[in-house]
Amino acid sequence: MTRDDLAAHLDYMRELGVQGVSRAAEWRTRVEAPAAADAAPASGETDDMPLEEPHVTTAPDLPAAAAVTLAPAEALAALRHEIGPACTRCKLHTLGRRQVVFGVGNPQARLMFVGEAPGEDEDKQGEPFVGRAGQLLTKIIEAIGMTREQVYIANVIKCRPPGNRNPEPDEVMTCEPYLFEQLGIIRPTIVVALGKFAAQSLLRTTEPITKLRGRVFEWRGASLIPTFHPAYLLRNPPAKREVWEDMKKVRELLQG
Ligand code: URA
Repeated sequence: MTRDDLAAHLDYMRELGVQGVSRAAEWRTRVEAPAAADAAPASGETDDMPLEEPHVTTAPDLPAAAAVTLAPAEALAALRHEIGPACTRCKLHTLGRRQVVFGVGNPQARLMFVGEAPGEDEDKQGEPFVGRAGQLLTKIIEAIGMTREQVYIANVIKCRPPGNRNPEPDEVMTCEPYLFEQLGIIRPTIVVALGKFAAQSLLRTTEPITKLRGRVFEWRGASLIPTFHPAYLLRNPPAKREVWEDMKKVRELLQG
């Protein structure tokens, strides 16, 4: 790493609210990266993932009774296929969305981030969290020694609401089961709910995010950590410090 690289790295750590460095041994070890063959390409799933932790599902185009055992990558590909590229199950397809934004990352991720809904950039590119908030999310992931390719990223709903309005209850009711399916296939150890909407949807609560963050919830066998949404951090940079606290907890849990 050059001096300039190091300076840039320290700058963004400072931007994230990191106030110092620790000599503790656990902070010198990077979170275990999957072998190169395990890491998903940016587009998401591949066919040549190792067959670990098989997921039983019913593949599309098979008779309903023909349950087959699929690896996570294949199960995600089957789910993507089931949703289809031009889903019409809710009204968002009539309200200007360009495409379904399914999710991206490692089908065997131990860490999964859940956001609210695609924004304009995501709607154009077909990938979650690629706009300004997404770039900040990438830095947050890197701040705990991981890469976007090692984690999985998805949203509660998969189509952009017009003008980035909040998703409406009928849209959530229709689309959320697909998020639950993604979670059931990937089975991450840790789920980070990004912002009020994701946290409240997953936890079935109306408690404000300020009351939810800072806590770890047991959620369907995973630890769920609510934190502030990166878009909120762009408007309110001092809150990056709390997110850093949450991410330290994530890192601790991954190492534990
Ligand atoms: N905000 C979200 O909640 N999700 C995205 O994918 C992008 C911005």
